Amino acid sequence: MILTVTMNPSVDISYPLEILKIDSVNRVANVRKVAGGKGLNVTKVIKLANEEVIATGLLGGNLGNFIINQLDSMDIKHQFYTIPQESRNCIAILHEGYQTEILESGPTISSADQTHFIQHFSNLLDRAKTITLSGSLPSGINNDYYQKLINLANKKNKKVLLDCSGDCLKVTITGAEIPYLIKPNKEEIEQLTGSELDSNSIKSFVDIIEKHKFLNDIPWVIVSLGKDGAFAKIDDCYYTVAIPEIKVVNPVGSGDATIAGLAIGISTMDTHENTLKRAMAFGMLNAMEAQTGCINMTDYEHFFNQVKVYPYYAV
Ligand SMILES: Nc1ncnc2c1ncn2[C@@H]1O[C@H](COP(=O)(O)OP(=O)(O)OP(=O)(O)O)[C@@H](O)[C@H]1O
Ligand SMILES: [Mg+2]
Repeated sequence: MILTVTMNPSVDISYPLEILKIDSVNRVANVRKVAGGKGLNVTKVIKLANEEVIATGLLGGNLGNFIINQLDSMDIKHQFYTIPQESRNCIAILHEGYQTEILESGPTISSADQTHFIQHFSNLLDRAKTITLSGSLPSGINNDYYQKLINLANKKNKKVLLDCSGDCLKVTITGAEIPYLIKPNKEEIEQLTGSELDSNSIKSFVDIIEKHKFLNDIPWVIVSLGKDGAFAKIDDCYYTVAIPEIKVVNPVGSGDATIAGLAIGISTMDTHENTLKRAMAFGMLNAMEAQTGCINMTDYEHFFNQVKVYPYYAV
């Protein structure tokens, strides 16, 4: 069982418009509202791949109920901790080839709820083998909060896959508790380390890892590179992961689909090669769909077989 954590889920609303008229009225017909947030994208992809998953995190109010109803309609198991505030909306206006986003910051979480969630998470850990922590923390929660969750998981020998960015990522991976895996994209690893990464050179990836002990200590470091595939460090081994060219519809959430693939590979103790191939295939399948956190499994084998994993041997 994979346990996914979404601390700041949202109802994602998309408004497709021919033209966005500023300081005027915009009427929209084809509104789409879906349960969102990076952790819920991971959850949906794991479910579509037919693996066992349970979603947790914080939610509340009518929007919280909307999210729960959507998960129920997809037959996804969930055990969220209920907060007294309303969960947030995130709005994407699609117009003239642009995507203008209005993201609510969401509720501020009280210290009592923060403490109660830690107990709630701890109880759920016994049912899980692998845990994913995805996305930013809601307001009121300090950046070291994921450290507390990783501490509990590590004590119970559960593997934590972490996907966040900015200060949250830095604080979490330079603390005492080490996650089992991180999956920054190019921009995120560059921001984290202050070093430039050349997508065409695995040597530049190896150099970054060797320069930063806190990265070397993490068993799995996967840097996803969008259309260029990924670089991976698994224990002491390095790999270049090459992918075919595909017809991209919407690449948002491909990193979340990649995390879903990695979580499945790790929890089923699949080979490194298969785990990396599955992760890339899921990322590509998500990029080929309009909807975020969605993969069409009928095309899975076709894309899985086109991913190539090349080990790197230092000379
Ligand atoms: N344009 C693309 N063409 C082919 N594959 C893609 C493309 N974009 C993403 N992918 C696939 O998805 C994986 C993850 O994508 P990416 O590196 O963009 O993640 P990300 O930036 O973390 O995305 P997000 O945070 O929106 O989920 C890639 O390694 C690749 O396998
Ligand atoms: Mg990402």
